[in-house]
Amino acid sequence: MTTTAHIDTAAVAHNVAMIRDHVGDSLVCAVVKADGYGHGAIGVARVAIEAGASWLAVATAPEAVELASLADPAGVAVLVLSERPDSELRAAWAGLPSRIRFVVATESGARTLDSLAAPGPTVPVHIKVDTGMHRVGVDPVDASTLADLVESLPSLQLEGLCSHLAVADEPSNDFTAIQIRRFDRVLADMVSAGHDPAIVHLANSAGALTLPATHHDMVRLGIAMYGVAPSAMIDSSGLRPAMRITSEVSAVRLVEAGESVSYGRRWYADRPTVVATVPVGYADGIRRDSGMAGVEMLVGGVRRPIIGAVTMDQTMLMVDDSVVVGDEVTVIGSQGSDEISVAEIAERLGTIPYEVLVSVGARIGRRMVG
Ligand SMILES: Cc1ncc(COP(=O)(O)O)c(C=O)c1O
Repeated sequence: MTTTAHIDTAAVAHNVAMIRDHVGDSLVCAVVKADGYGHGAIGVARVAIEAGASWLAVATAPEAVELASLADPAGVAVLVLSERPDSELRAAWAGLPSRIRFVVATESGARTLDSLAAPGPTVPVHIKVDTGMHRVGVDPVDASTLADLVESLPSLQLEGLCSHLAVADEPSNDFTAIQIRRFDRVLADMVSAGHDPAIVHLANSAGALTLPATHHDMVRLGIAMYGVAPSAMIDSSGLRPAMRITSEVSAVRLVEAGESVSYGRRWYADRPTVVATVPVGYADGIRRDSGMAGVEMLVGGVRRPIIGAVTMDQTMLMVDDSVVVGDEVTVIGSQGSDEISVAEIAERLGTIPYEVLVSVGARIGRRMVG
């Protein structure tokens, strides 16, 4: 068995349905950028649509092109979440889904889209307001002027208003309330200036799960759809993790006391130690310093520490003499009664679950199950 990421489609469907029920009348937009957070964009998008998502979102124009063959027959809209370089848009234009939508945050972004769209059908756009993330978005005081421009351009049509939350995954952080207030004020100003964005959206997963004031017309559902909590502070009970990664032991050896393992001789055996090799390395997304950080894998239902530096293609584990070549190794997920969760790996590596998921390398085959 080669190393495989098993994607539990029933878990994705369950997570989408659970959040769809939770957000009531708001639409669910399944965020499948970065190859569906490493799970496989097409497979996840298909399941999400079946489970009630009526929109898809991606980060780039090529990602939108990849979804066209699925989105068009399903009649689903695909939203590109930020403005993209002209060259990228130009190259992708002919292959975009028929219900493509773009986020617009600048005058030049709007004009570029308008000229690309002409003389074809009008392109619906969503104005993004910078309510405090300070990454992309029009300044709140300029939002209505940008809406005026969009309405005046012959090939664009104003469909949405959106923003993005910076700390929705920290329930005690009062900056979210400030962002909500700023967003609501922009919406009110826009409406009183005569604009009527039909689809207003602010919530990410944390907002969808915990902040009804952010639900508006649509929630953009990313990490929670994959069954992972946005942070340890957000209750993830009810969500089912969608990814499980397994491999198998490719070699076993006894290392004498005083010998070292792997490059740089960073780990020494203080007693005779059985070492198992697993054919998965940093090229597959297992960070080189995972052992130092305390990351473990499961073999025989038991936690086995990673020892020495992870190499490009292989990782060594401290095991015992019950382990033999061919034994299944669980890198992420449960085995027996124990589980190595994405959240645990992220915590030990000092990062966030998102980074662990999207780091799963292209060499690891994705297998849709369930
Ligand atoms: C603009 C935007 N909306 C929604 C999401 C989804 O966020 P989450 O995965 O926390 O649900 C992201 C993800 O980074 C994003 O950039």
